[in-house]
Amino acid sequence: MIDQFGRKITYLRLSVTDRCNFRCTYCMSEDVSFLPKKDLLTLEELEIICSVFINKGIKKIRISGGEPLVRKNIIQLFERLGKKLNNSNLDELTLTTNGSQLKKYSSYLYDAGVRRVNISLDTLDEKKFHLITKKNNILSVFEGIKAAQNSKLKIKINTVVLKGINDDEIDDLILWCGENKFDLTLIETMPLGDTDILRSTNYLSLSKVKKELMKRWTLEDINFSSGGPAKYSIIKEANIKLGMITPMSNNFCSGCNRIRVTCTGKIYMCLGQNNSIDLKKALRSKQSYRSLENLIDQSIIEKPKKHNFTTAEFSGSSIIERTMNITGG
Ligand code: 5AD
Ligand code: SF4
Repeated sequence: MIDQFGRKITYLRLSVTDRCNFRCTYCMSEDVSFLPKKDLLTLEELEIICSVFINKGIKKIRISGGEPLVRKNIIQLFERLGKKLNNSNLDELTLTTNGSQLKKYSSYLYDAGVRRVNISLDTLDEKKFHLITKKNNILSVFEGIKAAQNSKLKIKINTVVLKGINDDEIDDLILWCGENKFDLTLIETMPLGDTDILRSTNYLSLSKVKKELMKRWTLEDINFSSGGPAKYSIIKEANIKLGMITPMSNNFCSGCNRIRVTCTGKIYMCLGQNNSIDLKKALRSKQSYRSLENLIDQSIIEKPKKHNFTTAEFSGSSIIERTMNITGG
């Protein structure tokens, strides 16, 4: 699948639930209401969507949410998709998780064929963890990380940098990742849906962060590309790969290789645009694979050139109606 800007689309991010056991302040409101369960696609329907996408050239699938591992029986989906790793064009099956359920699920994920996980963790400090997630279970995340290590899953930590909250902790996170052989990716907050706090309160440009880091660490830029938006360097002293995702300070859309599907079956062609295409109706009316393929073709034609969000939105209302847990991180 090649879009009208010449970008090859090989990466599907599939959100399997909008629910989460955390309430990260930049992601959702504390009193968020989740979708009624009946609106969600079944695991079978999610698998069908993945199959059609794989037929159309998707090589990598990332399961996300909300928190994907709070969805009931989700391991079944990993197991079914894992089977496609050996007998289809699918090269990689992975997930983004907040880590809290990994103690229970790491070994099953590995057995299903998952080899890498992205774990979202913004702080190593219990008090700050509560400030950010509104929950108290940092221990469950550490236990989950340990379990993932024991299961031989390769770990990348994703950290949203928040001014005045965790921006003084980046050195500690680098050291901790170095000790544990985790890679680290820093992310700028994006104006995705409105939450309880104005995002301008905590937005920090990563170009500033990088300048600060360079005073204390040797950063060697590398050309490595995951086909995604991150720019990578090696931090010599810690011997880890550092990624920086800078949607706000440095637009990366020209290299975008991805497409997103929500847990209700909507294709979003861009995280930062409102247009979508609904697969649910075609799925439920038992139309043929062909009609799903046609809708997917249409989405690729309509994939926008770039996202439209700017830091101006941080102080007002977001132009994007949905929060990250809807579209999938
Ligand atoms: N801006 C930036 N990152 C966000 N995430 C959730 N909401 C936002 C936002 N508004 C991050 C999570 C996680 C990943 C899935 O997306 O922290 O790392
Ligand atoms: Fe949950 Fe991730 Fe959103 Fe935090 S950022 S509330 S962990 S979905």
